[in-house]
Amino acid sequence: MKTKVANAELNSYVCNASGIKDVAYEELKAIAESNSAAIVMKSCTPEPRSGNEEPRYMRLPFGAIQSMGLPNLGYKEYIRIAAELKKYRKPIIASVAGLSPDDFPKIVRAFQNSDVNLIEVNLSCPNLEGKPQIAYDFNAADELLGSISNLGYKPIGIKLPPYYDLAHFKKIADIIKSHNISFITCINSVGNTLAIDPENETPLIKPKSGLGGLSGGYIKNIALANVKIFRELLGNRISIFGVGGINSGTDAFEFLLAGADAVQIGTVFEKEGIHCFRRINEEFESIMKRKGYGSVLEARGNLKYL
Ligand code: DHB
Repeated sequence: MKTKVANAELNSYVCNASGIKDVAYEELKAIAESNSAAIVMKSCTPEPRSGNEEPRYMRLPFGAIQSMGLPNLGYKEYIRIAAELKKYRKPIIASVAGLSPDDFPKIVRAFQNSDVNLIEVNLSCPNLEGKPQIAYDFNAADELLGSISNLGYKPIGIKLPPYYDLAHFKKIADIIKSHNISFITCINSVGNTLAIDPENETPLIKPKSGLGGLSGGYIKNIALANVKIFRELLGNRISIFGVGGINSGTDAFEFLLAGADAVQIGTVFEKEGIHCFRRINEEFESIMKRKGYGSVLEARGNLKYL
């Protein structure tokens, strides 16, 4: 069940998603030693950050809500960590965030001269107060991609928020195609949602008056549609990581039918721990076998119509 994202070869279809248990070296080492097909690191900023006030992550019956606020060690530390993790010989994927437009080229340039294999640029963090999600501002996204896409030879991808309107899909797809972008990762959490504790009469999380990114099973169908629509709009030259509510091998297989080259696991990794990669991968292999598919590419985008 090998697969490829841009020029990176993954030994299986399943890896971790940025943002869950991937801030510190020990956590990343655990991912390196697990069945995750890649090591995706926490989105990083120029300087270390401790993130938003707690409580900032709460599990919900079918997923989670969070407003972490980009706690991370700063990009220089992730460059050092990537050098340590190189020996595991699996793709290392940096995740780049920023607080201002200039942060992005600065960090991307630094990762271009590092041991990471792919650079995922996060245009969709919903949790910074007063900072709109870049991917929802098409002019800003176009400009930002222009500033980062030709700084070196390592493939650049972008992490996208969910879109809901077909005109918006078309717009962002055209922007992506006009730059040197090798892969997309979709979707990030659904931003600015609210979960309430009715007894306390308060939100479940503290930052942003309780507003946070929704993830897990609640967003799987939004994610599937985003993968499918982008596969159609972008063609086969741009790879797609599917993310959002993948909890089983069957979920992963649905993302394959929609057109994903590989999937990333976030919310379920937080809940189940490191074993989830082996479990979901084994379930995925067994459904592929049962259906007679000999490879990922054979089934990719095979969704039929009624
Ligand atoms: C955070 C959340 C995100 O959805 C993201 O893409 C990056 C960072 C956060 O709050 O830490």
